Amino acid sequence: MMEFVVVEMRVNVKSIKERIVFFGGKGGVGKSSTASAYALKQAADGRRTLLVSTDPAHNLGDLFERKLSGGAAKLTDNLWGMEIDPEEESKRYIEKVKSNLSGLVKSHLTDEVNRQMEMARVSPGADEAALFDRIVELVLEEGKDYDLLVFDTAPTGHTLRLLSLPEMMEAWVDGMLQKRQSINDSHARWLNDGEPVEDPIYRVLMERKDKFSAARKELLDPEITRYHYVLVPEKLPIAETERAVALLKQTNLTVDKIVVNKCLPEAADDSSFFQNRRSQEKEYLDIIQNRFLSQTLVYLPMLDQDVRSIGDLEKLSKAFSN
Ligand SMILES: Nc1ncnc2c1ncn2[C@@H]1O[C@H](COP(=O)(O)OP(=O)(O)OP(=O)(O)O)[C@@H](O)[C@H]1O
Ligand SMILES: [Mg+2]
Repeated sequence: MMEFVVVEMRVNVKSIKERIVFFGGKGGVGKSSTASAYALKQAADGRRTLLVSTDPAHNLGDLFERKLSGGAAKLTDNLWGMEIDPEEESKRYIEKVKSNLSGLVKSHLTDEVNRQMEMARVSPGADEAALFDRIVELVLEEGKDYDLLVFDTAPTGHTLRLLSLPEMMEAWVDGMLQKRQSINDSHARWLNDGEPVEDPIYRVLMERKDKFSAARKELLDPEITRYHYVLVPEKLPIAETERAVALLKQTNLTVDKIVVNKCLPEAADDSSFFQNRRSQEKEYLDIIQNRFLSQTLVYLPMLDQDVRSIGDLEKLSKAFSN
């Protein structure tokens, strides 16, 4: 028999070190519901928590019956919520880069730089890059006002791309830096009597690189950042989660919790329909136990209705012991 409700424990806030938790998983398995339930539990235990949705199809606002935006809004005691819109971020990001560069670029080149920035905005991966920039900002700056950042992410493919992005971003900045350096070297040689030239663009790029590396350090440190994967006890989500966990491991991200959501509660009646579902579920629960040996398993019951309110979230919260 499965025990859903883990014994209620008062969490010693000081003993928990992780500051950042990501919830990932296949579409519709319950990432938003479980991330919210987890955040609610942490907040109830006294940690100032910021719950962030990075999925363009946001629904945290619906769950908490509040309109949310790109800035933090208070949801309950100790809990704040935010919905990041990648397209909005992309616009904001390009504007920021433009204004950073405007003082640095000679005036006759401004139009050209702006044109290139517009092209960058609509190029593939631009939204993700901007989203990552916002995450970096949260991790390194704004997020420090909270004890915990909880990220509800978009379905698997997107999330994986996003999480492996730090490396790509660094490679990109490195490439730009090298180019810049060789231009500066020839300037120094031909125009500056061999003296190194002061290059503000090089400096801006260098600062970005430092920021990315600092964020990456935090995102890859299991003492600071945890990755939780949500699945339902069925064949396809198990297979997909196995692949995702292996892929994440390749990028040095270790998934430490598997949240098994929508488990049939004991109270479900025992008509032949449910008997069938229950015995099938039993097989899948065994598979999950044997496949995810390095992860802690957390079981959440299927509620008798969808998750629509803080009250529903609280029912799920009980299963998170920390
Ligand atoms: N334990 C549960 N019991 C009952 N209904 C649930 C449970 N968990 C999630 N649901 C319902 O399942 C649906 C999907 O949940 P949710 O939106 O949390 O998933 P998601 O993984 O975030 O989806 P998406 O990939 O679209 O972002 C919702 O209608 C939600 O109310
Ligand atoms: Mg969701």
